[in-house]
Amino acid sequence: MFCVTCVVALGLLGCVLGREEQEGLQKHPGGDEDRRVAERWSSSAGQNGQTCRDFSGAQATLHNNTNTFTFKVRTMGSLSSAWVGDGTGVLLVLTTFHLPLFMMHFGQSNLYRSGDYGKTFKDVTPLINHTFIQTEFGIAVSPDHTGKVILTGVVSDIGGFRLFRSQDFGLNFASTDLPFEPLIQMLYNPADCNTLLTLSISLELWLSEDFGATWKKIYDSVCLVRWGPKSNIYFTTNTNGSCNDKGMLELRKTADYGRSFQTIATKIFSFVLGGRFVFASIMTGTETERRIHVSVDGGEHWNMAQLPSVNHEQFYSILAANEDMIFMHVDDPGDSGVGTIYVSDDRGTVFSKSLERHLYTTTGSDTDFTVITSLRGVYMTSVLTEDGALETVITYNQGGKWQTLRHPQNSHCSTDSSTNRPNRCRLHIHASYSTTMRMNVPMLPLCQPNAVGVILAHGSTGDAESALSPDVYVSDDGGYTWLLALRGPHHYAIMDSGGLLVAVEHTNSPVNQIKFSTDEGQCWNTYNFTNDPLHFSGMDSEPGSRSMNVSLWGYRNDFRKWVVITIDFRKLLTRDCDEGDYVQWLAHSADPSGPTDGCVLGYQETFLRLRKDSVCWHERDFSVSKTASPCPCTLDDYHCDFGYYRPENSSECVEQEEMKGHPLEFCLNGTTEQLQTSGYRKIPGDRCEGGFQPERKETDLMRMCISNALHTNSLSDDGPSRAAVVVPVVIVMLLVSAVTAVWLVKKYVCGGRFLVHRYSVMRENVEANKIEGVDDVEPHYMETEKVHYNEDSDQDLLE
Ligand SMILES: *[C@@H]1O[C@H](CO)[C@@H](O)[C@H](O)[C@H]1NC(C)=O
Ligand SMILES: *[C@@H]1O[C@H](CO)[C@@H](O)[C@H](O)[C@H]1NC(C)=O
Ligand SMILES: *[C@@H]1O[C@H](CO)[C@@H](O)[C@H](O)[C@H]1NC(C)=O
Ligand SMILES: *[C@@H]1O[C@H](CO)[C@@H](O)[C@H](O)[C@H]1NC(C)=O
Ligand SMILES: *[C@@H]1O[C@H](CO)[C@@H](O)[C@H](O)[C@H]1NC(C)=O
Ligand SMILES: *[C@@H]1O[C@H](CO)[C@@H](O)[C@H](O)[C@H]1NC(C)=O
Ligand SMILES: *[C@@H]1O[C@H](CO)[C@@H](O)[C@H](O)[C@H]1NC(C)=O
Repeated sequence: MFCVTCVVALGLLGCVLGREEQEGLQKHPGGDEDRRVAERWSSSAGQNGQTCRDFSGAQATLHNNTNTFTFKVRTMGSLSSAWVGDGTGVLLVLTTFHLPLFMMHFGQSNLYRSGDYGKTFKDVTPLINHTFIQTEFGIAVSPDHTGKVILTGVVSDIGGFRLFRSQDFGLNFASTDLPFEPLIQMLYNPADCNTLLTLSISLELWLSEDFGATWKKIYDSVCLVRWGPKSNIYFTTNTNGSCNDKGMLELRKTADYGRSFQTIATKIFSFVLGGRFVFASIMTGTETERRIHVSVDGGEHWNMAQLPSVNHEQFYSILAANEDMIFMHVDDPGDSGVGTIYVSDDRGTVFSKSLERHLYTTTGSDTDFTVITSLRGVYMTSVLTEDGALETVITYNQGGKWQTLRHPQNSHCSTDSSTNRPNRCRLHIHASYSTTMRMNVPMLPLCQPNAVGVILAHGSTGDAESALSPDVYVSDDGGYTWLLALRGPHHYAIMDSGGLLVAVEHTNSPVNQIKFSTDEGQCWNTYNFTNDPLHFSGMDSEPGSRSMNVSLWGYRNDFRKWVVITIDFRKLLTRDCDEGDYVQWLAHSADPSGPTDGCVLGYQETFLRLRKDSVCWHERDFSVSKTASPCPCTLDDYHCDFGYYRPENSSECVEQEEMKGHPLEFCLNGTTEQLQTSGYRKIPGDRCEGGFQPERKETDLMRMCISNALHTNSLSDDGPSRAAVVVPVVIVMLLVSAVTAVWLVKKYVCGGRFLVHRYSVMRENVEANKIEGVDDVEPHYMETEKVHYNEDSDQDLLE
């Protein structure tokens, strides 16, 4: 009976599933009750067997709001685009065509500008005087949305470089010849975008305080440079002039744009900034060992991190850092491809075990670790089980406890031969690792802070990740429940702050359909956007997911020229949302009868969310409204302390066998501290009050010690018990340019997009200069720098 009027995309599949799953169907959180019948046009059945609105009448409306633009340049070469500003609709597109016979300095660039969200473009190549633009430096857009743009051009084959600088959203460009050859992209000071930094090919550090008009050299022999908070510049340097001399570098900083410098650490192997922490790996007394040091005051004071030992073949990696804590991956011995995730305390000093057998291959440096930005405390990644199966696990309380994903109501476990364990039928999400393995996964998991609870991701069901073609799954509650949304791989985007989801099938044949959902992925409709199908290469909309305009990039069969088709969905939503369109939604609600339902990290949060059946427009300046109330403390508000772990399915922390009888003594700010713990440490940032309060005490033993390996040659041990715990930290870690840092940061947020072309060229350049391009102590996601990095200011649609 549910199959009578299947008009939606994949409606047939949905109906088949819908019928079979009807018995076990549960009401989706978010509330479908009290629907406004009058508003409904007509109905059909969706993936979950629920009633769907029929949008077939929308075809004509959307058709009137679809624009096609054909570029005059051929699809050979590269195309990159960048959104300038926020809500301005300005999109710059740079196409570069290399003449294959010549070296990289010969080629042709064209610049196009759109002021209407990609509907029309103007060829503004004369603004850059037809200069060949270095695509690997990309279109450098200032993170502060003030419309600053920099393009780096090559004016002669003997290394003359010219900056094209715009301060008015790409309407006008001024040009400046550079007195050096740049090695990396211009780095904007996040606190003041008129100040730029870059490294030259001869490793000189150059600074401009007037948006690139004049430059001064502030230091020589700089290996790695990063902007820190409050306009501080951190960099490593080698007095001997070789950045290969890792472990002999100095970490320096300047707080006044290079007028004075301060050495904050020596014998540096590498360093990284994340959250409010500065991490450095510093050589210790014995020449081959390095230890991670942490500073919470910008490098004035350092303490050694309490982490288990690793040998020289293993590595450390900072997966995420926020204001409260960090997630650190420690590689297991041997080439196992797995390691353990440790979570830090609020000083970044004492770590405890969070997740074992975490997948992180050394070769590809690939992990599925994803920060789910649409709900606080949620992180998702993959583990490799003892029997070699890949499983997706998720934590809702910042690493306190991990669990597998629940099996979606409307999908069946794939019945390939290996699945003999029906009780282990689960959902597995495909992220970075799958794409490294060249599986058919065109997008990483996607979520957005303003689309509360929404996650779009490719996945498959079974007792482990399957190699079969993945489908698109959607969650509307931050990963607690999932729904099969679309069969087969798709490109997808979140628009209108989650009020609209769009998707285009990922196939080798030309496409003419876009799918859209106005109810967070439960029902999908299709719109034929063209009669002349397109070889689809990518989908793009303004960063921030507030837009209603989506652009589809590709080319047609007859002539291989770039085509962009932009669809404005605004008219589809005939009215603005009002109060009645929103419902209260308790985040993290897993057990509505429990007294502490929704309590995560010590408080409950209630959001106002769009009703699923409301078809209305959020308005561009929509902001998520939420209220918070405190909760009493429970076991879930605690990480297991140093030396303790949580067995699977258990909330209680158990002491690690090898740690018994070794109370932790560690060195903090020069005196020995002894930790007395019952196994629990409150999760950094947790706001719970009262309730479960386990005993935990740090006693100052009034014994002097050396809390770091800085400024000293002999690091003496201060006790056998300490030696058992504070073990040498050896890091396999290579230097990396800040450009690569941006790349990594982008890659591990649930951003869903791929950046391929430009940065790979960049990395080769960096390697050619003897700074190797892979590192493992790079935070993949710095939550505090979200503002600057979480949006793709600059992306390549194609290679
Ligand atoms: C499409 O646009 C034309 C001309 O602007 C107008 O006459 C027609 O009514 C529009 N159709 C719809 C469905 O909006
Ligand atoms: C463009 O090039 C011409 C000739 O090569 C030169 O005279 C002119 O100054 C250039 N304009 C800019 C903005 O660089
Ligand atoms: C510089 O290099 C030389 C040999 O290459 C070495 O003997 C010396 O100790 C180095 N100096 C510093 C400060 O690293
Ligand atoms: C849309 O395109 C598909 C083929 O891709 C075709 O089967 C279908 O009939 C089209 N629908 C409309 C309304 O034109
Ligand atoms: C979509 O694009 C049009 C310009 O073509 C613009 O006026 C409108 O504000 C855009 N809509 C949104 C929601 O960004
Ligand atoms: C954990 O709980 C799940 C579901 O309750 C169960 O299937 C699984 O066997 C448990 N694992 C262990 C190690 O007890
Ligand atoms: C170490 O001492 C400094 C200054 O005395 C202080 O700012 C810092 O918070 C201390 N660090 C820790 C971890 O206590």
